[in-house]
Amino acid sequence: SLQPTPEDKFAFGLWTVGWRERDPFGDATRAPLDPVRTVHKLAELGAWGVTFHDDDLLAVESNRDAAIAAFRKALDETGLVVPTATTDLFKDPVFKDGAFTSNDRDVRRHAMRKVMRNIDLAAELGAQTYVFWGGREGAESDAAKDVRVALDRFREAIDFLAGYVKEKDYGLRFALEPKPNEPRGDILLPTIGHALGFISTLEHADMVGLNPEVGHEQMAGLNFVHGIAQALWQGKLFHIDLNGQHGSRYDQDLVFGHGDTKSAFFLVDLLESSGWDGPRHFDYKPGRTEDAEDVWVSAEANMRTYLILKERAAAFRTDPEVQEAMRACRIDELAVPSIAEGESYDSLREEEIDLDAARARGYHYSRLNQLALEHMLGKR
Ligand code: GCO
Ligand code: MN
Ligand code: MN
Ligand code: MN
Repeated sequence: SLQPTPEDKFAFGLWTVGWRERDPFGDATRAPLDPVRTVHKLAELGAWGVTFHDDDLLAVESNRDAAIAAFRKALDETGLVVPTATTDLFKDPVFKDGAFTSNDRDVRRHAMRKVMRNIDLAAELGAQTYVFWGGREGAESDAAKDVRVALDRFREAIDFLAGYVKEKDYGLRFALEPKPNEPRGDILLPTIGHALGFISTLEHADMVGLNPEVGHEQMAGLNFVHGIAQALWQGKLFHIDLNGQHGSRYDQDLVFGHGDTKSAFFLVDLLESSGWDGPRHFDYKPGRTEDAEDVWVSAEANMRTYLILKERAAAFRTDPEVQEAMRACRIDELAVPSIAEGESYDSLREEEIDLDAARARGYHYSRLNQLALEHMLGKR
């Protein structure tokens, strides 16, 4: 069915549906959205979870305790869970040169305090994942930032905060979110690959993984499905931000599937066939053209697209014609190790293949690709 239910584990950030659509050229087009209303509305639409930045909770209510109490009450009333939380380390002008990697040491210490405070709240609300998007960790001028030293400070902050979580026994895991640029000209840890490399240097690498976002890899011209596959392969997919993007340009944060739909199809196919049981978290922004009601239509569209693609991917996988086409492509042969167990170097060296036959042999990928497309388009 295309009606979302909590079993689908769909989650939204408060800042997504609550986005007022400010951009560098224009003022907000929508009124602030009360987090309490968001929680009720998301539950009504069939979502399972809601996520937040510390500062999102203060969108309407300026008293922190009152805002948290009201949010908590809404969660209790609706049964919505908080799987994930994060810190706003980019809006306040104090972070204009970054948070953990600002050249200003006082700012770096302030950033760590801000995170600790919200980690306490995240743990209290039952979150399991804590996201770090280093939106301002970067530079516009290579002369102004020694990136090697900035990475020392980035690592110091993540290790320090991971140590804090371990000391408090909060059981939270960290998920780093790569993005190549925007709002900084260049952002540190720009892609999944950079972030995986960074994680391998951490003291608490065991509790740090990734929160990749569809559009962010595509902004860098990369194949998101391949990135997710490698993150899964390395056991580092801790969370995911689903949305849409049209290639290398500014961060569009479109509805899931409203960008590169074919990539979205193969992403859902990968997530579902790999048994991913984490949140399906949408990090999108309703367009500038959308009014207060359109916001909920767009929220629903994310979930509906996911469910449609899930249905289409399952049909693709179980179609006997597809299975036959996959065999013709010799996909199963890739799972056979290239070297047999116990085989010697000499046995490999002495073997020969019929090179002309191998050169001539086709792989028959076009047929399989077309079958995927036809399933995706509902033609099968
Ligand atoms: C973006 C980012 C952000 C972060 C979020 C978590 O649009 O560039 O995806 O939305 O995910 O703010 O800190
Ligand atoms: Mn964005
Ligand atoms: Mn984004
Ligand atoms: Mn994101």
